[in-house]
Amino acid sequence: MRLSLAFLSLFSAALATRPFLNEPDTAIEDVLGDTPEGTLPDLENILGLPDFEWAARRYLNASSYTYYRNGAAGEWSYRNNLEVYGRFRFRPRVMVDITDIESTLPTTILGHNFSAPFFISPCASAGLAHPDAETNFVKAAHEENILYIPALYATLSMDEIAAAKPANSSQVLFQQAYLNSNDTATQELFDDAERLGAKAIVWTIDSAADGNRLRADRYGVGSADADYTLSTWELYAKLRNMTSLPIILKGLQAVEDIKLAIEHGAPAVIISNHGGRQLDSSPSPLEVALEVYQEDPDLFNQIEIFADGGVRYGADVLKLLALGVKAVGLGRSFMYANAYGFEGVQKAIQVLKREIAIDAGNLGVPDLKEIDASYVKWTNNGWYS
Ligand SMILES: Cc1cc2nc3c(=O)[nH]c(=O)nc-3n(C[C@H](O)[C@H](O)[C@H](O)COP(=O)(O)O)c2cc1C
Ligand SMILES: *[C@@H]1O[C@H](CO)[C@@H](O)[C@H](O)[C@H]1NC(C)=O
Ligand SMILES: *[C@@H]1O[C@H](CO)[C@@H](O)[C@H](O)[C@H]1NC(C)=O
Ligand SMILES: *[C@@H]1O[C@H](CO)[C@@H](O)[C@H](O)[C@H]1NC(C)=O
Ligand SMILES: *[C@@H]1O[C@H](CO)[C@@H](O)[C@H](O)[C@H]1NC(C)=O
Ligand SMILES: *[C@@H]1O[C@H](CO)[C@@H](O)[C@H](O)[C@H]1NC(C)=O
Repeated sequence: MRLSLAFLSLFSAALATRPFLNEPDTAIEDVLGDTPEGTLPDLENILGLPDFEWAARRYLNASSYTYYRNGAAGEWSYRNNLEVYGRFRFRPRVMVDITDIESTLPTTILGHNFSAPFFISPCASAGLAHPDAETNFVKAAHEENILYIPALYATLSMDEIAAAKPANSSQVLFQQAYLNSNDTATQELFDDAERLGAKAIVWTIDSAADGNRLRADRYGVGSADADYTLSTWELYAKLRNMTSLPIILKGLQAVEDIKLAIEHGAPAVIISNHGGRQLDSSPSPLEVALEVYQEDPDLFNQIEIFADGGVRYGADVLKLLALGVKAVGLGRSFMYANAYGFEGVQKAIQVLKREIAIDAGNLGVPDLKEIDASYVKWTNNGWYS
């Protein structure tokens, strides 16, 4: 008895101290470890999305890397965003004809056709990684036919970003915005977005107050949106009246708010905790999507529900899609890939497309549109739960 208790406490101590792996060990250090600091390994050596972080961490200066990498406070949400995908196991099916899976990746986002169910989430300051800044995202998104949502606090202006679209192309961009109660400024922003051909506004509402960004503040690269900001459903009703563009809400984290968004006529929402950068202990997008699914899976049919945070592998994308999420966003992976410029961003997109297809194939999904919650065992197998 005493022995087994001792064993048990040793065992749980071992569980409690299992280290967090910001960059899982896939031998990149063994193979590319002699890459000199401040230089990038050849792009052909980059195999998965986490490799871009490994490369960017050694290539960017400490303040730029920190601005991208930062999470709020103790970074529990940042870590949970990454780890949550590992807590839920798939239920793979076999003897299914999945040979056509690649042709089923295309999807629509608010009626616009795209080649895959993922997008480049809005992230400020792409210029910290590459002199061409957001231009690389526009071009790679065009080349690979995925959605890019430029951030309001981009390095380049909205005009410069729109000008990076190929001449006369029908490329679809949505414009992210932080909005306050200054209607004049809001109207100018909406008018600029319409003039420049944006097809939707993405209003970020998860940052009502400043983010507690210790890691970033150490380097003087904290949040650019530091004020207390008024965001209410009344303001949303007024804003919808000020533009012909649909206004997507980004940063919902509870099923009640998704229901309210539907009641208030939102065409779409993005479940997000801002990549764990805003409120520490805020839930990961997978946990929120599961909450929505368990409350009422039909909510996923009533409006388009997107999600972002912690997605690093095709398998992560599949788990969100399985619950009914229509498309999935990635922030940091693309910011790190941008250290390589256009080619890096394009490669990141191609890597994720391939992973989604092969993982769906191994999961026994014949058509990505038909993935559903039965492909995952929704019991938390957490090491930390
Ligand atoms: C460097 C950086 C800057 C960001 N800037 C913005 C922003 O300006 N507006 C916004 O809505 N979200 C911003 N985000 C949040 C992203 O849109 C997205 O929610 C988050 O990065 C997703 O998590 P991931 O990085 O794990 O993919 C930023 C994220 C990062 C990493
Ligand atoms: C989107 O794809 C559908 C189905 O393939 C097609 O009918 C439609 O014309 C496409 N729309 C645009 C704007 O390309
Ligand atoms: C880090 O790099 C960025 C982008 O090149 C530059 O703007 C910034 O000044 C650099 N910071 C330091 C501390 O060197
Ligand atoms: C773009 O369209 C305009 C008007 O339709 C046309 O005059 C112009 O030549 C086109 N530019 C290119 C590069 O195709
Ligand atoms: C509101 O925005 C306009 C346009 O950007 C600006 O000129 C004005 O000073 C702002 N008003 C306040 C009270 O900040
Ligand atoms: C929207 O605009 C219409 C017409 O200008 C106006 O009657 C209505 O009160 C506005 N609604 C809101 C919520 O501002």
